[in-house]
Amino acid sequence: MINLIGNNIISLKSVDSTNYYLRKLINSENLNNGTIVYANKQTLGRGQRGSTWESEEGKNILMSFVFIPEFISAENQFLISKAASLSIFDLLSEYTNKVKIKWPNDIYISDKKIAGILIENSLRGSVISNSIIGIGLNINQLNFKKEIPNPTSLFLETKINYDVNEIFKKLIGFLNARFNSLILKDFNKINNDYLENLYRINEFHFFEAGNNTFKAKIIEIDKIGKLILEHENGDLQSFTFKEVKFI
Ligand code: BTN
Repeated sequence: MINLIGNNIISLKSVDSTNYYLRKLINSENLNNGTIVYANKQTLGRGQRGSTWESEEGKNILMSFVFIPEFISAENQFLISKAASLSIFDLLSEYTNKVKIKWPNDIYISDKKIAGILIENSLRGSVISNSIIGIGLNINQLNFKKEIPNPTSLFLETKINYDVNEIFKKLIGFLNARFNSLILKDFNKINNDYLENLYRINEFHFFEAGNNTFKAKIIEIDKIGKLILEHENGDLQSFTFKEVKFI
């Protein structure tokens, strides 16, 4: 196995955002593929949909790494999301059997979010020149601000305090395993494992799109990462991340 991810680790006490930091580094120097930026604290931690990412100093994993996927075309970029989600899924499955991946790339334990991923791809034509994959994984945090919807941590789920550095090292192992599957073009395994562990797949639940609330079930995720829902009358409809919400 090639241990690409983590061959170079930059550890910071405090940073605005590990994603920003890595982007600046990539633009200013020739960085090793797989370089990780790890931080104890972020002052401007960013989430999806322009949200912020809250994390108490030293309690959780906050990291970003660069991946240069020369062999993945832009239309296949959702595979990177799947591989990253599955790595965290694999890691957490060592501690609990209630882990699920919530489309597109949140990691849930039961109905609560324990980890989020923020991926920023730079495209050159139809090729991804580099991908910055930011991961926030809650380990020992006990209290979260009220405005954050349904957060949890490994401590809250298992009542055990963990060595964050030890879990970080394990995560690097799982990332390498899944990204090796990507490099070896074992896309079937990644696609199957992702679908198999998807939160709320094949069950009817409520969703919101525009001003509509409706009941539907997830039946598939298409190649570009769109959510395919089946309505109660059997009609199929696909959605991008911005177009639909789980309720
Ligand atoms: C989400 O909203 O679910 C994505 C959260 C991603 C948070 C991580 S923490 C490390 C990296 N740096 C950031 O600013 N965001 C990501």
